[in-house]
Amino acid sequence: MKSSKEETQKSYPLLSLRNILVFPKSTISLEVGRARSVKAVELAQASGMGLVLCSQKDTEIAEPSPEHIYTVGTLGLIKEVAKSVSGNLRIVVEGLRRVKVTSYLTSDPAFVVSVEELEDVGVGRQEADMLIKALMEQYEEYVRVTRNVPAETLISIAAIRDPGHLCDTIAAHIPVSIAEKQQILETLEVRERAEKLLDVLEKEIELAGLEKRINLRVKKQIEKSQREYWLREQMKAIQKELGDKDDSISEAEEFRQKIEKAGLTGEAREKALREVDRLEKMPQAAAEAVVVRTYLEWLVSLPWNVLTEDNIDINRAQAILDEDHYGLREVKERIIEYLAIRKLVDKPRGPILCFVGPPGVGKTSLAKSIARALGRKFVRISLGGVRDEAEIRGHRRTYIGALPGRIIQGIRTAGSRNPVFLMDEIDKLASDFRGDPAAALLEVLDPEQNHTFSDHYLEVPFDLSRVMFITTANSSYTIPRPLLDRMEVITIPGYTEEEKIEIGTHFLIPKELKEHGLDSSHLSIRKEALREIIRAYTREAGVRNLERQIATICRKTARDLVSGKRQRVTITPKNIEKYLGIPRFHYGQVEKENQVGVALALAVTDVGGDVMACEVSVVKGKGRLTMTGQLGDVMKESGQAAMSYLRSRSADLGLPEDFYENVDIHVHVPEGAIPKDGPSAGITIACAIASALTNRPVRHDVAMTGEITLRGRVLPIGGVKEKVLAAHRAGIFNIILPRENKKDLEEVPPNIREELTVTFVDHMDQVLAAALCDPEDRNEINTLPCVDQLKAAQDVAMDQMSQ
Ligand SMILES: Nc1ncnc2c1ncn2[C@@H]1O[C@H](COP(=O)(O)OP(=O)(O)OP(=O)(O)O)[C@@H](O)[C@H]1O
Ligand SMILES: [Mg+2]
Repeated sequence: MKSSKEETQKSYPLLSLRNILVFPKSTISLEVGRARSVKAVELAQASGMGLVLCSQKDTEIAEPSPEHIYTVGTLGLIKEVAKSVSGNLRIVVEGLRRVKVTSYLTSDPAFVVSVEELEDVGVGRQEADMLIKALMEQYEEYVRVTRNVPAETLISIAAIRDPGHLCDTIAAHIPVSIAEKQQILETLEVRERAEKLLDVLEKEIELAGLEKRINLRVKKQIEKSQREYWLREQMKAIQKELGDKDDSISEAEEFRQKIEKAGLTGEAREKALREVDRLEKMPQAAAEAVVVRTYLEWLVSLPWNVLTEDNIDINRAQAILDEDHYGLREVKERIIEYLAIRKLVDKPRGPILCFVGPPGVGKTSLAKSIARALGRKFVRISLGGVRDEAEIRGHRRTYIGALPGRIIQGIRTAGSRNPVFLMDEIDKLASDFRGDPAAALLEVLDPEQNHTFSDHYLEVPFDLSRVMFITTANSSYTIPRPLLDRMEVITIPGYTEEEKIEIGTHFLIPKELKEHGLDSSHLSIRKEALREIIRAYTREAGVRNLERQIATICRKTARDLVSGKRQRVTITPKNIEKYLGIPRFHYGQVEKENQVGVALALAVTDVGGDVMACEVSVVKGKGRLTMTGQLGDVMKESGQAAMSYLRSRSADLGLPEDFYENVDIHVHVPEGAIPKDGPSAGITIACAIASALTNRPVRHDVAMTGEITLRGRVLPIGGVKEKVLAAHRAGIFNIILPRENKKDLEEVPPNIREELTVTFVDHMDQVLAAALCDPEDRNEINTLPCVDQLKAAQDVAMDQMSQ
C-alpha cells in the first residue's frame, strides 16, 4: 500500500488530537478547529502527502507544545476536507501505519516533524490463529455484556486474519482511555499487544458486569415503587369498575387532613399518623381495617383543640342561676366565686363540686344551669351501677367491639375540651372482680393527674384539666372515701313547704304550662291549691312529684281545652280531687292517736328526711329480742343498747327485775321493704319498748331522734335539717332532739323553727318523761312541756314510779 512518495518523504505536518486516537488501517472523521491544526491540514493537502496524527497526553491543553504530545502516532492520509457548519474543517483521514516522531522541525505555523516508521513484530501462523481466537472470544463476551456494539462491526472484525490488525481494530472500537489505547498503539510485539488488549477487555467486561448489577439494583428499586403505584392505580380502577365509591388512598388522605384539622397533640398525632399508614397498607375490607378506621374516627372526632370561651360576667351568671333555680344560695355563691377567680387567673383548677341531697332537689338541673351560666357545653353521664373499670377508662383495642370509656365518650359528645361534666349518682358506684371504677375515677378527678388522662382504648393521653366536673349523690356516706376527699361537698337538704310553694309558683308551673302549650290565661293554680298538692299528693324532700302533679293538671287542662269543655281552668283546694284523684297522704296524721308501743322516729333515707313509726309488741316468751323491717346492724345494735338500758332501769319503770326473762320483744319498723340503718333511732326504739312494757301510750304528735348509750345518755345525730323538715312536712310540731344538736337547728329556716316546739334532751329519762302519757291518757294531745317543766314532770314521773 505504501506509495513511493511516502517512502521518500520522512517529514510531515503533525496534527495533535484531543480525546481521540487513530489506529492504522482505520478511517475516521475529525473536526479541526485550532489554527495550528488547520495549518497542518492545509500543508498536508498542499503537499498531497501524509499527515502525522498524534494524540495529546492532556486533553485540557489548547496550545500544546511537543512535550504534551505522545511521540508514537499514526501516519494518515487525508481523504476529504469540508467546511463544517461551525466554520471548522471536517476531514476524513485514513490511518496508514505506526510512526514515531523523532524530532520537531518547526512549530509555526504548524508542527512539522520528522518520523521513523515502525514495524509490527509478528507471530507465526499458528500462534496468530490462537491469538485471534482468544481475542474474538473475549471481544464477543465484551459485546455480549455491554451490548453497545453494532452487529456490522462484529462482522467486519470477524473477517480480520491478522492479529496485530485485529488488536488495532478492536482497540479503536472500545471506549477506553486514550492512555490505554496509546499503550496498544505503542506495543509493536503483536503477542504482547494482544495480551494487553485481552487485559483491557477483561477489565471492561468486569466493569460492565458491575455496572449492570448496579443498574439492575437501581432499576429494581424504581420498579418496586412504580409497581406499587401502578397496583394502587389498578386497584382504584377496579374499585371504580365495581362501583365502590371511596378508595383507600383518598380515605387515608382524608384521615391525614382530619388529623391536622382536629389539632391532635404531639403523641396522639404521631400515633394517629402511624395508624393511617397501617390502614393504607391494608385491604379495605380486612377486619383489622375496620378496627383501625373506628379508632381513627374516634381520635379525630375528639375536641383536642376546641375550648369554649367562658362567660365571666358575674352579674349575668348570677341572673341565669337565679332564673333557673329558686334558693340554693350556697351553691350559687360557690359558682360565682369560681367565676371571680376565673376572672383573675386564666387557668384556675376546675373545682370538683359534689351535690348531695335527696331526689328531686334539683342537683341535675342545677349542674345544667351552671353550664348555661358559664357558657360551657354540658354533658351528663350516670355512674349508677357502673361496676367495671373499663366503663370509665375504656377497653383495650384488642377486645372485639372495644370502645373508649364514658369519660372520653362524654367529651366527644360535649364537643369541647372544657365542658361542665356531670357525673350523676357517684354514690351508686359498685366494684367487683372487674376492677374498681372508683379508682379509675380518682385519676379523672385528680387535678394533679387528669391533664394526662389515659383511656385504654385511645392509648394516648387526653387533657381533662379544663373540664369542670360536678358529681351528684343522694348520700355522701356511700361515696368511696378517697373520691370524697377530692370533692367539695355541697348539701342540698330539701325544701320546706314555703320554698316548694315558691318553686312551684315561679318555676314549675310556668315550665309545665309552657311544655304543654298553655299559658296563664288557660290555667291558674291557686296558692292554697298548690299547698294542698304539696301536702296531700306528695311527700318528698325535693319537688319532682310536685312537678309531676302539676304536669298531670296541665295535661288534663289541655284535654279540657281541646275538647271544648272549658275555656279556662282554675285549680282550687275544692276541685283538686277532680284532677289528681283522691289524696294519697294525710297531712299531720302519721298516727292518729296515742298508742302503746308505737313511737315516731325521724330518719334520713336516700329520699331525704322521713318520719317513721317504730312498733313494739311484747308477748310471753324467753327473753328474745327480734328486730324486723330490713334493719341494718347498727340499728339492731342500738336496739340492744336500748334494751340493756331498760333492764338497768327496770325498777324505775316499775317492772320486775327479771321481766325480760318471761317475754319476747319484737321491734318492727315499717315500711318493711325499705332498708334502714343508723343509730339515730335509738331513743325511739327505747321509748317504744318502754311504752309497751309499762303499758303507757306514746304521744302521737311527738317525733324524736337520738342515739342511746347503755347508760341512757343521748348522743347527737346527723341530718337535723332534713329530719326537722320531714317532721314539719308531716305536720308534726313536737320534736325531741339531742341537746348537742341544738346548734344544727340554725340551719332550719326561721319560719319553720317558729312553728315547732323542740325539746332538747341529754338523757333517755327526759325522753320518756316527754313522750310517754299516763296509761289512761290515750287520746289526749298535749303540747310538749319546755325543758324546765319537763324536769319537773320527770321528777313527778320518777316519784310515781318509785312509789
Ligand atoms: N330550686 C329549684 N328551683 C327551681 N326548680 C327546681 C329547683 N329544685 C328542683 N327543681 C326542679 O325539679 C326537677 C327535678 O330536679 P332534678 O332532676 O335536678 O333532681 P335531682 O336532684 O337531680 O334528683 P335525682 O337525685 O333523683 O337525680 C327539675 O325539673 C328541676 O328544674
Ligand atoms: Mg339527677
